[in-house]
Amino acid sequence: MFTQELDFKTTDLNTFPFPFRSDNYRYSNDLRKLEDTNLVTITPEYELQVRAKRRLLDEQPEVRYQSFPHTMEMQWEFLEMVFEMAVEKYPQHFELIKNGDEWTFKNNILKEEQTFTFGDPSTLPYEPYDFAGRHFHQDFVLMVNREDNFYLEIGQVSYAALFSAHWNTGMSFDEIHGPVPFVSRNGDNLIDRVRKFLLGINPGEPWTRINWNLMANRWDVNYETMDVWEPQRSLITPENAGKLVRLRVEEQKFYRMSRSNAILFVLNTQFLPLEDLQLRQEWFDLTYSVLQDIPEAMAEYKGIAPYLPQSVEYLRRVDEKLKNQALQTQEG
Ligand code: HEM
Repeated sequence: MFTQELDFKTTDLNTFPFPFRSDNYRYSNDLRKLEDTNLVTITPEYELQVRAKRRLLDEQPEVRYQSFPHTMEMQWEFLEMVFEMAVEKYPQHFELIKNGDEWTFKNNILKEEQTFTFGDPSTLPYEPYDFAGRHFHQDFVLMVNREDNFYLEIGQVSYAALFSAHWNTGMSFDEIHGPVPFVSRNGDNLIDRVRKFLLGINPGEPWTRINWNLMANRWDVNYETMDVWEPQRSLITPENAGKLVRLRVEEQKFYRMSRSNAILFVLNTQFLPLEDLQLRQEWFDLTYSVLQDIPEAMAEYKGIAPYLPQSVEYLRRVDEKLKNQALQTQEG
C-alpha cells in the first residue's frame, strides 16, 4: 500500500530551478560547472519533503531503496560527505561530533540525534546510505565507474520521474537512457557523448544540469505505479490545467567521489503549478513558447502527449487575458 496525497509546491521562487533559457527546447549535453558545490539546501519545504520522502521509503522500501551488498564502503563515504557538507553550510541546523569512530549526528530541524560507530552498519537503524539520505530532501543515486561505463549500484529514489531504485539498479548509463529519444538538434546521438563527458568529471568539481517534465495532478510517477497515475492524465482540461498541471523540475548534480571513483547523482525535485508561472512574466513567456514547440517523440517519451494540448490552451488563454489587461491599462 502506498499513499500519494502529498501536495507541495515551491514557495520561494528564488530557489526554483527554472529550466528554460530559450524559447524552444531540445536535448543537448547541457551540463554546467556547479558554482555552490555543497549539495545541502534547506528550502521552506525541507521538512515537508523530508517527511514525505521517509514515508515513501517506509511504504515501498523495495521500490525506493536498493543497494548491492558490496557497496558498504561507498555508503560510508557518502554518509561522511553529506553530513560534513550539512554541518559546513548550516551549523545552526546540523552537528557532527566525532570521537574516534564514535560519531554523533544531530539534525536540529527534525530534533533528531543518532550516535553510531563509523564503519559498523549494525549501529544504525538503516544502511548508512539510506540513513544519511533520509536527512535531506533530494534523491541520491550512486553510479559506479567500471571500465568506460557507469552502473547504478545504490539508489534512494522517492521523487524522480520514470525512475526507481527497484527498476534501475544494476543498469548501465547506456541501458538507463535506452528509452530516451536522446538526440541533439542536429540529430546526433547523445548517449555516448554524455557518458564520455561524465568519465572526465574530477573530484571536487561537480557539474549540474536541469531536467524538466510536466505532471498531471501528481508528483510521483514511476513504472511500478503506472496503473494509478496513467489514467489521471486524461482528466486535464484547459480549465483545470493551471492548478493540476505542474512544471516539474529536477536540478541534477554530479559528483565524482574521491575514494570509490563513483559518480554521485543528486536530484532536487521541485514543482510549480502552471498558474504560478504568472508570478514571473519571463517564465510564463518562455514556458508558453517551449510547450508549443515540443517534438512529438519527446512529448510521447515524457508522457505528456495526452494533456499537452490542454496545457498549451490554458497558457494561451492566460496570455490573451494578460495582453488584454495590458492594453486596457495603456488605453486607460
Ligand atoms: C549519471 C547519472 C544519470 C542517471 C542515473 C540518469 C538516469 C536517468 C533516468 C532513470 C532517466 C529516465 C529513463 C527512462 O525513461 O526510463 C533519465 C532520462 C534522461 N536523462 Fe539521465 N541520468 C544520468 C545522467 C544524465 C546526464 C549527465 C544527462 C545529460 C547531460 C542526462 C540526460 C537525460 C535526459 C535528457 C533524459 C530524458 C528526460 C526527459 O526528457 O524527461 N542524464 N536519466
